[in-house]
Amino acid sequence: MALVEAREKTVVDSARTRVSIRKYDSRPISREEITSIVELAGKAPSAFNVQPWRFIGISDPATRAKLQEAAFGQPQVGEAPGLLVLTSDMKAALADLDSTVHPDMPQDRREKVKETVRGSFAAMTEDEQRAWGRNQSNIALGYLLLVLESLGYGSSPMLGFDPAAVRDILALEEHVEIPAIVAFGYPAESGFPQHRLPVERVLRFVA
Ligand SMILES: Cc1cc2nc3c(=O)[nH]c(=O)nc-3n(C[C@H](O)[C@H](O)[C@H](O)COP(=O)(O)O)c2cc1C
Repeated sequence: MALVEAREKTVVDSARTRVSIRKYDSRPISREEITSIVELAGKAPSAFNVQPWRFIGISDPATRAKLQEAAFGQPQVGEAPGLLVLTSDMKAALADLDSTVHPDMPQDRREKVKETVRGSFAAMTEDEQRAWGRNQSNIALGYLLLVLESLGYGSSPMLGFDPAAVRDILALEEHVEIPAIVAFGYPAESGFPQHRLPVERVLRFVA
């Protein structure tokens, strides 16, 4: 892997320290680094191992400028050395179950799993499938944000954009969902201190 392991933070430390960073220094991020980052984000689990996430790395300045406009002018979209658009494509995922059903399963079991998966999705509307894929892709988004923090990058996940405009700019089909745009780079600010609900507000035990 091209990444420098010595600077990695643990997952626990990354969860403790991560905040949104919207300003970055000018150090560029190579395609190799982005590929390694996305490879790690793609280690996320998903139901049936369907892995509907598809990442698009943006380097072309003209495309960036258009995306910034579609993201209501958010400066980090235009300025970040790294920019990923996270999409979820259930049609592509369901058309390629051969690649996602575990290869170590015996062939007859693989066929049964594929049938079960296809059956589950046949019972859903397209909107339900899209929502399902989006939920799974958000697991990869969480991985991505922690991986970036662990590797020393600052990141800014965004939902503040017009999805129809982003689809148009990237020539994405109508069924493709866009769970987030993520800008990242080496931090040039410390961001707001982390502010979260205390654990007692989000956890209860049932005896
Ligand atoms: C899915 C998602 C979408 C977000 N969209 C935006 C956005 O469009 N613009 C922005 O500046 N911040 C955006 N944020 C950042 C949140 O406001 C931020 O994560 C939250 O306030 C907690 O702050 P922290 O990340 O600094 O800890 C988004 C965060 C997430 C997870």
